[in-house]
Amino acid sequence: MRWMRAAGRALLVGAVVLAGYTGFGVRADAGATSGAFGTASGDRGPLSLVTAGDLTDYLPPLLDDWNEAHPDERVTLVELPDSADETRAQMISELRSGRDRFDVLNIDVAWTSEFAAAGLISPLPRDRFPLDAFLRPVVDTATFEGRLYAVPYVTNAGLLYYRKDILDRAGEEPPRTWSDLVRQARTIAPQYGLDGYAGQFLPYEGLTVNVTEAVHSAGGSVLRDDGARVSVDSDAARAGLRFLADGVRDGWISREALGYKEEESRQAFQDGRLLFLRNWPYVYADASAEGSKIAGRFGAVPLPGPDGPGTSVLGGSNLAVSSHARHPASAADLISYLTSERVQRQVLTKGSLPPVRAALYEDPELVRAYPYLPTLRQSLLSAVPRPKSPRYDQVSLAVQAVAQDVMALRQTPEEATARLARELGAISRRG
Ligand code: GLC
Repeated sequence: MRWMRAAGRALLVGAVVLAGYTGFGVRADAGATSGAFGTASGDRGPLSLVTAGDLTDYLPPLLDDWNEAHPDERVTLVELPDSADETRAQMISELRSGRDRFDVLNIDVAWTSEFAAAGLISPLPRDRFPLDAFLRPVVDTATFEGRLYAVPYVTNAGLLYYRKDILDRAGEEPPRTWSDLVRQARTIAPQYGLDGYAGQFLPYEGLTVNVTEAVHSAGGSVLRDDGARVSVDSDAARAGLRFLADGVRDGWISREALGYKEEESRQAFQDGRLLFLRNWPYVYADASAEGSKIAGRFGAVPLPGPDGPGTSVLGGSNLAVSSHARHPASAADLISYLTSERVQRQVLTKGSLPPVRAALYEDPELVRAYPYLPTLRQSLLSAVPRPKSPRYDQVSLAVQAVAQDVMALRQTPEEATARLARELGAISRRG
């Protein structure tokens, strides 16, 4: 399993990370190529690259290439746990400690604002990176208060995976609306002994993503104006929550799915236990690989909404430089390398992760090999970003807690939106 391989490596890698360099605090500034991110030899030297420990099997050979070409600026990979929240917690506690063990950070787009507002990462000079070559909404996830704090590395949008073999046998097309999905999940899945639908429903960032998508697909929102205005007390938001609660009540979302993160839900689909799955594009390659029970027997379409296409949350990760980085000039060069056209192509072809460079989505050879690319591009361009709130972690915790109660059928969507509006209001007032 991916996470076991990753955990093994984390131990090894962790042991060889060197400590003992002196940090220099927040010293970089935006708008220039000089300063800490320039070429001064004192700002060059060995680095660590810290990342969530999942979906990284493709990285070591890329870093070996870098290390061969940069013997004095060797990079060591540090892998943390694979869930978004655990990775965030470990990064924050290390960065707050003031130690300089972490140099370049691969941070979930969800946390860029929080890290920037807390001074944990340094602003970067815009003209150092070819931002025009990246998908535009993705670049926006790397900025906070008008400054660039990271460089987009991987992007992500949710897709609906479906069992093509089963829908074909039933003479049905993949669902475009919630009512198609619900009807097929209720009537067809049980005939084949399958669960109907799953996403990521354990309380963590993944649940926030799934609920936000349901709310936006129904035409609502949770927060507006980058978190300044609470907008969740609406009929549309209630309709989004009701979609998920109905699934549990009517049995087309199984109770087991309430404990799924990305990997558990992928496994259920890949083991042939699910008709429909909401997940990220990385699932496409894994579910097509040897050993998957459903290789060649599934497809992926945009997420459905009540009357037509739904809305995805914009996922992915950005590369940032710790405020305590030992060698900022080398850190910036490593980021340029990892976001270069050559490496971004491998992020897709070797890592099965969605790249951030726009041109790759229109490359005929890649579109032939990855038929979901045009669908994914559309979903990415219309995806909702996470609010740029310095307190996004608290926002997300409030959303998860309420969503958990709705999906456990302990609160109605009406009670839930009223409570969430109160809680989000209190978080924004505390600010
Ligand atoms: C994926 C997304 C990320 C999101 C996370 C939720 O890793 O890329 O943005 O926060 O899933 O589990």
